[in-house]
Amino acid sequence: MQKVLLVGATGETGKSIYDGLVEEGGYEIELLVRPSSAEKPAVKTLEAKGHKLVVADIDAGIDPLVPLLKGFDTIISAIQPGSQLSQLNLVDAARSAGVKRFVPCGFASISPRGGIMRLRDQKEEVHDHIFRAHLPYTIIDVGTWFQISFPSLPSGRVDYASFVAGNFTIHADGKAPKILTDLRDIGRFVAKIVKDERTLNKRVYTAGDVLSEDEIFQMMEKASGEEIPRKQVSREQIKKDADEALAAFDKGARDQVAMMRLYRSQYNYSKYVRIDNTPEFAEYLGYLDARKLYPGFQPRTFREYVEELLTGKGIKPYAQGRE
Ligand SMILES: NC(=O)c1ccc[n+]([C@@H]2O[C@H](COP(=O)([O-])OP(=O)(O)OC[C@H]3O[C@@H](n4cnc5c(N)ncnc54)[C@H](OP(=O)(O)O)[C@@H]3O)[C@@H](O)[C@H]2O)c1
Repeated sequence: MQKVLLVGATGETGKSIYDGLVEEGGYEIELLVRPSSAEKPAVKTLEAKGHKLVVADIDAGIDPLVPLLKGFDTIISAIQPGSQLSQLNLVDAARSAGVKRFVPCGFASISPRGGIMRLRDQKEEVHDHIFRAHLPYTIIDVGTWFQISFPSLPSGRVDYASFVAGNFTIHADGKAPKILTDLRDIGRFVAKIVKDERTLNKRVYTAGDVLSEDEIFQMMEKASGEEIPRKQVSREQIKKDADEALAAFDKGARDQVAMMRLYRSQYNYSKYVRIDNTPEFAEYLGYLDARKLYPGFQPRTFREYVEELLTGKGIKPYAQGRE
């Protein structure tokens, strides 16, 4: 039985990972929660399923964390985007506690470091800290969730599951292929990856599909019988949006809205102008392809998700809101 400490189990990615570990079996799962969240109903529900809580403020220093992390084989972090650097303490404490594999909070689209995406740069800062510590690791990225990758329909039929309703945007020429994973399959992949010796000290990417926006629009049109208007945004505008969001952020706009604007615009620049989020680029960066590692595992396809959407079974991310 592999003993896993999961950070962020009540979040979108963390819930998928929790479900995946449970479905796979063979894991003893404990949950790291911050003191201010220990009494939340979502935490209590998980505790009631028999999981021990490790209540800890990871920002409060390394020493108090070390005894709490002793005995874990694996730590998986699915911490919120804005708290990536809080993982630096966890890395140091995990090293001192003798943790055998640390999975930092990746779970993002593929992109290189270095001024393209602030969020990527923070994740890579955590990776560099892992490397400096000689801590065994696996970095897992997933492309973009199916659940935030479909346009609206003129009838409004899928708005119930849309992160942004009324979205008819096509970026650039709409032809950039992108890696996509169903949010629910992230955990199912993770559960295979973290017990696989081949993935130790490696980067791995998951995918359920690789599609362009053009292909997604056409798939939605065919399945729904509706014609979707296209609101084309030029490459120049995508770049301008990213530059402006970064300038506002650097001038001190750091609230949730400003952060989301920065992340979204920089993701768009990376995915649709630079065309970073592709299998070819992932492999160039040294990632292993989880589809090749686990040929017997069939992740959900985007077409299947479209069917779910059209039959009212889509899932709206962050339906409970985000803190
Ligand atoms: N590929 C994609 O399309 C995509 C989309 C969205 C996000 N992501 C990535 O997924 C990752 C996770 O994001 P998410 O949106 O899934 O997260 P989320 O839903 O916002 O959940 C974050 C989790 O982290 C916990 N948390 C926050 N601060 C903590 C702390 N100091 N100590 C312990 N736990 C803490 C939260 O618990 P409490 O708040 O209850 O304490 C919550 O369980 C991010 O790195 C992001 O880049 C990828």
